[in-house]
Amino acid sequence: MKKIIIAIDGYSACGKSSTAKAVASILGYSYIDTGAMYRAVTLYFLQNFVSLTNPNEIENALKEIEIEFRHNPKTQKSDTYLNGINVEQEIRQMTVSDKVSEVSAISQVRRFLVAQQQKMGKKKGIVMDGRDIGTVVFPEAELKIFMTAEMTVRAKRRQDELLEKGELVDLEEIIENLKKRDLIDTSRQDSPLRQAEDAQLIDTTAITFEEQVKQIVAMSKQKL
Ligand code: C5P
Repeated sequence: MKKIIIAIDGYSACGKSSTAKAVASILGYSYIDTGAMYRAVTLYFLQNFVSLTNPNEIENALKEIEIEFRHNPKTQKSDTYLNGINVEQEIRQMTVSDKVSEVSAISQVRRFLVAQQQKMGKKKGIVMDGRDIGTVVFPEAELKIFMTAEMTVRAKRRQDELLEKGELVDLEEIIENLKKRDLIDTSRQDSPLRQAEDAQLIDTTAITFEEQVKQIVAMSKQKL
């Protein structure tokens, strides 16, 4: 059967990851969370005090980084590994969220990760979510979705997610972080976040998770 690439882009905390994961599971596709890859690089940079303004240091650090996704049989989810260590919990913490957009604006980092993402999608049958999937990583993707939602809804969702993991964060602090990331992500020179011309817009403010998934699965079936 024909397999396609589904590219899901959009702002932070619009429900991209959970929607993409569910769509992939229904279609029997692989799911790749590219945000997790940028978060893993950020964690490495923080742990190793890599200067974000020193290209040599960045180049050397990138040579030391290996990112993998491994299935976790306990949670039935995919966990992110950095150099063989499970960092799934750590990369979601606010210390990483605070720095990730600055790290993601660095062209060397983007080149390093985009090449890996393109390799992962070679065989198609993939749902990939991020900020530049439909515009840069897979401009030829058969289905492109751009997700958005109102800020308060996004912040509340992120707060609930963090709480589930035992981190209690003030809503205002989350709103500040999301606004800061939106600004850096949309205004950076290299691969800024924007809706691809041929992407379908889904506003998730007032629709249920099930509806989002249903809409995307229906759109993907039209492309098969
Ligand atoms: O998706 P998530 O919120 O985990 O992404 C974290 C950050 O990684 C984003 O705010 C953005 O700065 C960066 N990112 C990116 N390009 C991608 C995926 C994520 O620049 N494809």
